[in-house]
Amino acid sequence: MDRYLVFGHPVRHSKSPFIHTLFARQTQQELEYGLAEPAVDEFAQALRTFFDQGGKGCNVTVPFKEQAFTLVDRLSPRAKRAGAVNTIKLTDDGVLLGDNTDGAGLVADLKSHGVTLADNRILLLGAGGAARGALAPLLAELPSELVIANRTHTKAQKLAAEFHDLGPVTAQTYEQLAGSFDLVINSTSASLQGELPPLAPALIHTDIAIYDMMYGASDTAFISWAKQHGARQTMDGLGMLVEQAAEAFTVWRGIRPGTKQVLRELKRNLGVI
Ligand code: ATR
Repeated sequence: MDRYLVFGHPVRHSKSPFIHTLFARQTQQELEYGLAEPAVDEFAQALRTFFDQGGKGCNVTVPFKEQAFTLVDRLSPRAKRAGAVNTIKLTDDGVLLGDNTDGAGLVADLKSHGVTLADNRILLLGAGGAARGALAPLLAELPSELVIANRTHTKAQKLAAEFHDLGPVTAQTYEQLAGSFDLVINSTSASLQGELPPLAPALIHTDIAIYDMMYGASDTAFISWAKQHGARQTMDGLGMLVEQAAEAFTVWRGIRPGTKQVLRELKRNLGVI
């Protein structure tokens, strides 16, 4: 049977096996999908062993995405832009192809929630790996403006300069942010520590859409905060998780699984509904 897995550390709580097993059942593909948690300095060896032993493809998650970028034979254009690889496929001619489906997953999830990106003003919080992966797919949707704000401002400036050729992207400090944004995307890891990015409450209004790439059984700290300040449309990253997986599954199997039912089952599994 064709074998796939996700590499991460820690990875025990990954929902990827659950999601891909449902995708396989739905599309009647024969495959198995597991977990691998190599020591941080043993990822390269573990990856090689997996493919030497007949593995067909894998996902890569924290903290291995940047390292995976350096280990594959060939990179897709979107992985090159993202500077990170979350999906690897062994092609029929034996080439390890590195791809990145995170940004596509974000955009697909935003669209499935009916969020308009074209001609809208987007605020992206954070300038780490998650922000980098999101920038090209977001800019491809032709927003009127995309502002990056980050605690360490120089990182936001660097990122904006790097993606400037793709669209109207600028960097501002949290203090500089002004005017009305249509969508705020939180790509920071602040919610992991129950912290908040230092965003002024005045930027939140009833018609704004709020997206947190993090997710949990209950609202993330950022989503709770945004709701308190009047945001009516809030979304967490669970949909992005399912959409990036669907994109990876499509890369591997050449068939696109449906995501709605799988997302519902995942929510049930997490106790969200
Ligand atoms: P990832 O790959 O998930 O993006 P990362 O590359 O470590 O992770 O980036 C984490 C991001 O969250 C950074 O933009 C970080 O800001 P700094 O560049 O200033 O470190 C941001 N971040 C983490 N904790 C934060 C907090 N409490 N408030 C604001 N931003 C925070």
